Amino acid sequence: MGNKNHIQNLAGKYFHKIKMLIRLPWFRLCGNNISVTASIESDVILRHSSIGKYVYIGPRATALWADVGNYTCIAGGVSIGGMNHAYRESFSINPLLNPHCSMVKNGRTIIGNDVWIGANCTILQGVCIGDGAIIGGGSLVTKSVPENTIVFGVPAKFYKKRFSEEIWKKIKASEYWNYPPEKVKEVMPKEIFEMVTFES
Ligand SMILES: CC(C)(COP(=O)(O)OP(=O)(O)OC[C@H]1O[C@@H](n2cnc3c(N)ncnc32)[C@H](O)[C@@H]1OP(=O)(O)O)[C@@H](O)C(=O)NCCC(=O)NCCS
Repeated sequence: MGNKNHIQNLAGKYFHKIKMLIRLPWFRLCGNNISVTASIESDVILRHSSIGKYVYIGPRATALWADVGNYTCIAGGVSIGGMNHAYRESFSINPLLNPHCSMVKNGRTIIGNDVWIGANCTILQGVCIGDGAIIGGGSLVTKSVPENTIVFGVPAKFYKKRFSEEIWKKIKASEYWNYPPEKVKEVMPKEIFEMVTFES
């Protein structure tokens, strides 16, 4: 009886994970390094990418030759680091006819820790998005985005800093993104954990 309860408890605890694993399109996720704590919705395509801890990736997002930090949330329909079709180097933009087409011509695409990328954004190949940045929904990110910065638009432009410099320094120094959620309270200064003031 006790054993049965134990199994039921375990099944309950891992139900969401098991459901997620069954739903994953495995053939589309090969060749990646994905944390087991990441949540990945359906129809996501990842190639040669690393996905950090506690990351959420919404439906139909793609990440090619990209590195995504911990706690980052990527909404549905986001495209990160697509092919560079090298239109200048050949009469054709098709990789079958143009050997210069490359996934990493401009380098890997880097997304920091605790970054929020709104729905249907496109992040161009080689762009780096700093820790704690926010990319507004529908944006086209053509240039790197500094940490603690909110941008949006086509092309994405500076909107505002997310936190005041003083608060951001403390948040950054805690490196909370390297800890599991239940430990974050221990590494984050109390005043930041309990009340954060935002720069308007
Ligand atoms: C970027 C964002 C976080 C800013 O939120 P906010 O600080 O509350 O911004 P506000 O709603 O006060 O908007 C401020 C101004 O920016 C504009 N704006 C906000 N987000 C925008 C966006 N993504 N693209 C273009 N303009 C935007 C607003 O129209 C407003 O303009 P106005 O001052 O001329 O009226 C938010 O708008 C956003 O894009 N979130 C992503 C939502 C999403 O994709 N959710 C689904 C997945 S989780």
